[in-house]
Amino acid sequence: MKILVTGGAGFIGSAVVRHIIQNTQDSVLNVDKLTYAGNLESLATVSSDERYSFAQVDICDRAALDKIFAHYQPDAVMHLAAESHVDRSIDGPAEFIQTNIVGTYSLLEAARAYWSKLPTEQKAAFRFHHISTDEVYGDLPHPLDIETSATQGSLPLFTEKTAYAPSSPYSASKASSDHLVRAWHRTYGFPVIVTNCSNNYGPYHFPEKLVPLIILNALEGKALPIYGSGDQIRDWLYVEDHARALYTVITKGRIGETYNIGGHNEKQNLEVVHSLCEILDELKPLPAQASYKDQITHVADRPGHDRRYAIDAGKIERELGWKPQETFMTGLRKTVQWYLTHQDWCQHVQDGSYQRERLGVSL
Ligand SMILES: NC(=O)c1ccc[n+]([C@@H]2O[C@H](COP(=O)([O-])OP(=O)(O)OC[C@H]3O[C@@H](n4cnc5c(N)ncnc54)[C@H](O)[C@@H]3O)[C@@H](O)[C@H]2O)c1
Repeated sequence: MKILVTGGAGFIGSAVVRHIIQNTQDSVLNVDKLTYAGNLESLATVSSDERYSFAQVDICDRAALDKIFAHYQPDAVMHLAAESHVDRSIDGPAEFIQTNIVGTYSLLEAARAYWSKLPTEQKAAFRFHHISTDEVYGDLPHPLDIETSATQGSLPLFTEKTAYAPSSPYSASKASSDHLVRAWHRTYGFPVIVTNCSNNYGPYHFPEKLVPLIILNALEGKALPIYGSGDQIRDWLYVEDHARALYTVITKGRIGETYNIGGHNEKQNLEVVHSLCEILDELKPLPAQASYKDQITHVADRPGHDRRYAIDAGKIERELGWKPQETFMTGLRKTVQWYLTHQDWCQHVQDGSYQRERLGVSL
């Protein structure tokens, strides 16, 4: 296959590109605008492969997209390009509306125009895979907010049928793009597949997100900021498990279907930070048996912060045979080891304006 991947210089997109080039015979055209979150250095291990190519293009630029489709003639699209950080969406929603909604619309239209003219066999085989988040579902009841242990035992999970109720400008923009993609299937018969995934962590994660932020701040002796009490629950998935899941879906998934992807790892944010500190205490011990946990500082909570996310990933496991390979502790340890040995990458991606300052508090 020739796969057009949007957002391939980002955290998950680069894991997808590396996975495809390193584990399959397929080719990839990475279409990325290279915002602050896009780094071609994340593709250094595959960028010299002749099956990999790159085009610096904004997905909102329809004319540029038309040229890309005409020239590359892809068999499938995996759409990951997005503005992805909730805190940034609170400070400035405009870019999120532009890239996530308008950009997805313009990509859909460019892809549909190309697909509609394909010969019958290629047209039937074509796929447009939209990569989205579990945050579109809003939040779930939190065990601490439920009084009886009987009810706690049956806490609900997000399924593919859960109604959308996004809370942040980011998740609302992703929900909007999901609706557009499904409407293009229903209205035009355009062959789409949607996946909604839980929180990812792993190598090449831009240091504004919780896991890399905590690791890097810890190593520099800085405060480890916890939003509110830190009891918010997320369902964590190692990014390479996600990349495998996405490739499974694009090759085996059924048109018109949605697949939820998750790691069966519900953890409170504070637990995640404690685990990171414990791994760092072991791998990079502080003098006099001090612990990185001493750097933990509670800060004002995120406005509208969702309490709990948790995915029922049963459908993708039953129908497509995918399940995560990493446990939370094996994946987290690999992640810490990666950051300890890739300080140069961390330095380079922070050479721009972002210096790990707190975002998303201006109202
Ligand atoms: N990170 C997570 O935990 C998570 C979980 C579930 C779903 N997702 C979804 O997966 C996708 C990828 O997330 P990520 O964490 O890798 O994001 P990221 O912010 O690390 O990367 C986004 C990439 O998109 C590119 N991009 C942004 N705007 C663009 C535009 N207008 N045109 C072309 N390229 C543009 C950026 O340069 C960057 O390379 C997103 O759609 C996100 O909503 C993320």
